[in-house]
Amino acid sequence: MKKNLFIAFEGIDGSGKSTQVKLLTVRLEEAGHKVYATFEPTGSPMGRIIRDMFNHRMEGDHRTIAALFVADRLHHLLESSTGMLRKLEEGYTVITDRYYFSSYAYHGVHVDIDWVIQANSLSAGLLRPDLNIFIDISPEVSMERLKKSREAIEMYETYDNLNKVRAKYLEAFEQLKEVERICVVEGDRSPEAIAGEVWETVRRYDAT
Ligand code: TMP
Repeated sequence: MKKNLFIAFEGIDGSGKSTQVKLLTVRLEEAGHKVYATFEPTGSPMGRIIRDMFNHRMEGDHRTIAALFVADRLHHLLESSTGMLRKLEEGYTVITDRYYFSSYAYHGVHVDIDWVIQANSLSAGLLRPDLNIFIDISPEVSMERLKKSREAIEMYETYDNLNKVRAKYLEAFEQLKEVERICVVEGDRSPEAIAGEVWETVRRYDAT
């Protein structure tokens, strides 16, 4: 493989992104990449406030949450020692579990999607993913998986909301298809089958 890449995994809750981040990390390391795997919301103070709002420990309007994600993402990019831009400069391939398409989809359900895109334009200007990989599952599969794995259901984890979030993802992909490289992977399969397709996609991209 030629160069270090920036890859964002996207999907509704329960889509298996974190498993895929781990599996892709192993494959990339085997191919000789140094890999930095990361996620949003981050562990920053902004990320902690967001999680408190999701868990209803703190009140949070959808607009406030959308704005906190804008700040958390800029910090994720710009923090001087572990920020994604620094890691790319250091030669790491960076894989993030969620990036700005999560904001377009999750907040676009509640506020104007064009505002969300505009509010994230600094991040998009700083760093666009080489690949946005969307692991596509239905809201039915998502809810089944969440019921098995979660002790408490968070703010956005209802069938109705996840259905709308998935539709917003597809809308945002259509709206931004000229400027973003998006790859949709069928997610209702074994983790190994999904990982195989993800790996082929990454290799194909890297060969271009
Ligand atoms: P996770 O379950 O992948 O850790 O994501 C945490 C939640 O954060 C998930 O419900 C999606 C939500 N989220 C947003 O609402 N906006 C965003 O910009 C991001 C990155 C995540």
